[in-house]
Amino acid sequence: EAIEKGGYDHFMIKEIFEQSKSIGDSMRGRLNAEAGHLQLGGLNQYLDRLVAAERIVIVGCGTSWHAGLVAEYLFEELARINVEVEYASEFRYRNPVIGKNDIVIAISQSGETADTLAAIELAKSKGATIFGVCNVVGSSIARATDAGAYTHAGPEIGVASTKAFTAQVTVLTLIAIATAKRKGTISEETYIQLLNELENIPEKVEQVFENAQKIKEIAFIFTYARNFIYLGRGLNFPVALEGALKLKEISYIHAEGYPAAEMKHGPIALIDEDMPVVFLATKDSSYEKIVSNIQEVKARKGRVIAIVTEGDSLIPPMVDFVIEVPKTHEILTPLVSVIPLQLLSYYIAVMRGRNVDQPRNLAKSVTVE
Ligand code: G6P
Repeated sequence: EAIEKGGYDHFMIKEIFEQSKSIGDSMRGRLNAEAGHLQLGGLNQYLDRLVAAERIVIVGCGTSWHAGLVAEYLFEELARINVEVEYASEFRYRNPVIGKNDIVIAISQSGETADTLAAIELAKSKGATIFGVCNVVGSSIARATDAGAYTHAGPEIGVASTKAFTAQVTVLTLIAIATAKRKGTISEETYIQLLNELENIPEKVEQVFENAQKIKEIAFIFTYARNFIYLGRGLNFPVALEGALKLKEISYIHAEGYPAAEMKHGPIALIDEDMPVVFLATKDSSYEKIVSNIQEVKARKGRVIAIVTEGDSLIPPMVDFVIEVPKTHEILTPLVSVIPLQLLSYYIAVMRGRNVDQPRNLAKSVTVE
């Protein structure tokens, strides 16, 4: 096992640091920015169906569901397709309005999650076309779908998902861009820009790792926090949910992720000088709004950790701690902004002496209801 961990203390940290490579692996052979080339072999034949789709329904559980929420923004923004994201466990027990004109995308690292598999069977019985985004080759979900794209993140051993999430987001981004290109909903210029930026992501993720020591120091300060709030807007809202989930899963600290603007409808009541609030505050279209949300939290003495874009000079003096991430195209932000949150939860959990690779009560793959 020590050999498998490749010198790291835990699989989780090994898998976090693998992401600069695994994100590249999930694009390998599919993308060549210089040639303006983007192709997903498994979906080729079905691309026209995506282009014609009036609606996509995404199903998944846990972290995979969060990747689905990111994809909702991507497909809507780039390909102008209406998207609904469903917890597989809820979808399967409703009487969902779904039929042969719908496309269902099932997202699953393991490809074995019982609820996701059952949601697929239900959608299939109603005539929908099913695509899979799975990590494990030949898994039950991969076999149950009409077509799909593997994430190629390599085996993920840590129960808390890290590299599988970024690989899912990468592959879903590729699918959304390919659909948008074929549909004509993005310009040639944006298309090329996105492909170039995607190729730069592994290097940008590598740059985030340079902050690991700083994140460790922040983790030390908050090791004994009892609660955490994570706030983000737009594409960073699902990242806030994912950051909160990571912390809960492995450190057993209660954490909530919220869209930053929803804070005033509840969570703001929780804020006092003991409440750490993690803000996803990268320079994107909601930047100014996030800045005022930060001010609202600081006015109530909350302790703010802000994930900001490199070179930001406005936010650092307003908050308690900042962690910088490199600038990228707004659409690709989650791929860099999630990394510091994974590291933060990892270091907090280690400092609390938790079994990070196998947290209590959780399973890597939930194959029963
Ligand atoms: C479990 C795992 C999570 C995972 C979820 C969905 O809860 O602990 O890390 O996100 O299942 O699993 P899947 O394999 O379908 O992505």
